[in-house]
Amino acid sequence: MKVLVFGSGGREHALVWAIKRSERITEVVCAPGNGGIAQDARVVPADLKDLNSMVRVAEAERPDLIVIGPELPLSLGVVDALRDRGFRVFGPTREAAMLETSKGFAKRFMQRNNIPTAAYVICSSVQEAEQAVELFHPPIVVKADGLAAGKGVVLCPSRHTAVETAQGMLSGALLEVAEKQVVIEECLAGEEISLLCLTDGKHVVPLAPAQDHKRVGEGDTGPNTGGMGAYSCDDLLEPAMQEWILHHIAEPTVRGMAEEDTPFTGVLYCGLMMTARGPQVLEFNVRFGDPETQAILARLESDLVELIEAAVDRRLAEIAPRWSPGASVCVVASSSGYPGTFRSGFPIGGLSAAVKVPGVQVFHAGTAINGEQLVTAGGRVLGVTAAATSLDEALARAYQALAEIQFEGIYYRRDIGHRAATRRNA
Ligand code: AMP
Ligand code: GLY
Repeated sequence: MKVLVFGSGGREHALVWAIKRSERITEVVCAPGNGGIAQDARVVPADLKDLNSMVRVAEAERPDLIVIGPELPLSLGVVDALRDRGFRVFGPTREAAMLETSKGFAKRFMQRNNIPTAAYVICSSVQEAEQAVELFHPPIVVKADGLAAGKGVVLCPSRHTAVETAQGMLSGALLEVAEKQVVIEECLAGEEISLLCLTDGKHVVPLAPAQDHKRVGEGDTGPNTGGMGAYSCDDLLEPAMQEWILHHIAEPTVRGMAEEDTPFTGVLYCGLMMTARGPQVLEFNVRFGDPETQAILARLESDLVELIEAAVDRRLAEIAPRWSPGASVCVVASSSGYPGTFRSGFPIGGLSAAVKVPGVQVFHAGTAINGEQLVTAGGRVLGVTAAATSLDEALARAYQALAEIQFEGIYYRRDIGHRAATRRNA
């Protein structure tokens, strides 16, 4: 089998690595990939903002299966375009992807289907926002409706700043595009969990639960990023709680989407807040999370290609993935300055020593090859990933590997997994 993966980040490197382990695979192609992916797969250029570019790559490569990594091509309808041309594709259609690409759509959908989520009002003008904020106690969460590369959610300390934020989003002053609508919602408190589920449109198969670290600074401080690290371990979610989430969130979502004629297939990423009154959906993503996927796949014992094919062929009812017991972690090494401005092009050293640490894989997020030299080429540069029989051991391995790696301005959080200790002491 030949598999084509679209994307260029750490998530796609982990997908390529896991796909390559399958016995059935003869070739993995990644478009456009990055410096590290190029060592594990053939990389070909592609513009993920351009449907025609992706269709051309698929037609030139004729893969047996296509996996879409990021949300942008899904939002453009890459799955529809490729299926129309007869390709087998893993991922949701453009309409089904609205669970991620329109927060207003997702909130209305959850309300119609009784899926627990924060109380909200959708506003399309400043006047509506002024009225809506009166209904909530600060802090108040204001969300851009559309995709905003991690910058679309603002936690506002007062009603006044909430209205200002809504105004900035609606006018276009705050983000790249002016939003037609914003969501104003209740601020939820609790621990965040990512439960990613594979679905074939009917059956739902959960992957190992994970926890992301979105803020740049230790102790969860500073601005939001694409994710500075993630870990996965079994005690992140009690089995009864996971069952509850499946029965009250993931399954009704998939059922509701099918009943509303927008059947959802692919990865349903449930971003959850574990509140005092139970799990509530913060957001849906319609794809593998980054960096959760790096940690999750490090624990996967089953063949990922078989899981993906079962989803594409609507056979997920027969599937139960196997996980290595214990834990895994992915610590992101970033360029200093990220998520603000940073410089790229610095040589990266120490990787061969890093991967000698037992259980360690280094997934590349923002790297490129300049001549013979691997160099930094993004805010998030590497995802140093380790699996072990316990979270403490996985963390020790990842940080031991990180100590071997050098590039100018390397920054990483030293407290990935800190909430696990708090949970243990609770
Ligand atoms: P998103 O950009 O949709 O991935 O959301 C980013 C982050 O905003 C989430 O991971 C949460 O940490 C936070 N967030 C979103 N909605 C809420 C909410 N209602 N209450 C508290 N935090 C939230
Ligand atoms: N880790 C969060 C995301 O992939 O959106």
